[in-house]
Amino acid sequence: MLTEEQVLLIRESAAELAKMEIPATNAFYANLFEVAPGVRELFPDDMFKQSEKLWQSIVMVVESADNPAEIAETLRTLGKRHVAYGAVPEHYPVVSEVLIETISKTMSDKWSDEYKSAWQAALTMVCDLMLEGARDVQS
Ligand code: HEM
Repeated sequence: MLTEEQVLLIRESAAELAKMEIPATNAFYANLFEVAPGVRELFPDDMFKQSEKLWQSIVMVVESADNPAEIAETLRTLGKRHVAYGAVPEHYPVVSEVLIETISKTMSDKWSDEYKSAWQAALTMVCDLMLEGARDVQS
């Protein structure tokens, strides 16, 4: 569960990210494929739509950060679909780390350790729920 302050920090930084001319999510995939080239083949050639979808999930998480129960089932179902996409549990920490790295670069001098912990808490929650859904598929 995120603290009230973490929820505020997530919302503040998401508002900053939304102002960027080049969406942070485009940079995210470039960084991800650099760090983990092996996952490139799981994604379609054209990453434009994918970036939009990732951004929409971030918005969803930001909007429900103070009430995760609201999106828990959606995230479990998203995790189930990810089994078919070829995502395995080991990919999740890599994706979270690259996502935080990208957000930090995008916010440059506005970034702080407080933002980092808030995003870590939010992404841990997201990944835990997605992996819960993914486990249901495999068992
Ligand atoms: C923070 C956790 C993650 C979130 C919020 C997220 C979000 C999404 C969303 C919204 C989609 C669109 C399709 C759908 O709704 O089913 C998607 C597709 C996809 N994701 Fe994720 N994802 C996450 C983690 C991962 C991880 C760890 C991998 C592993 C490499 C991954 C690989 C993929 C792939 C391969 C697709 C399908 C692309 C396609 O064929 O169109 N995702 N993701």
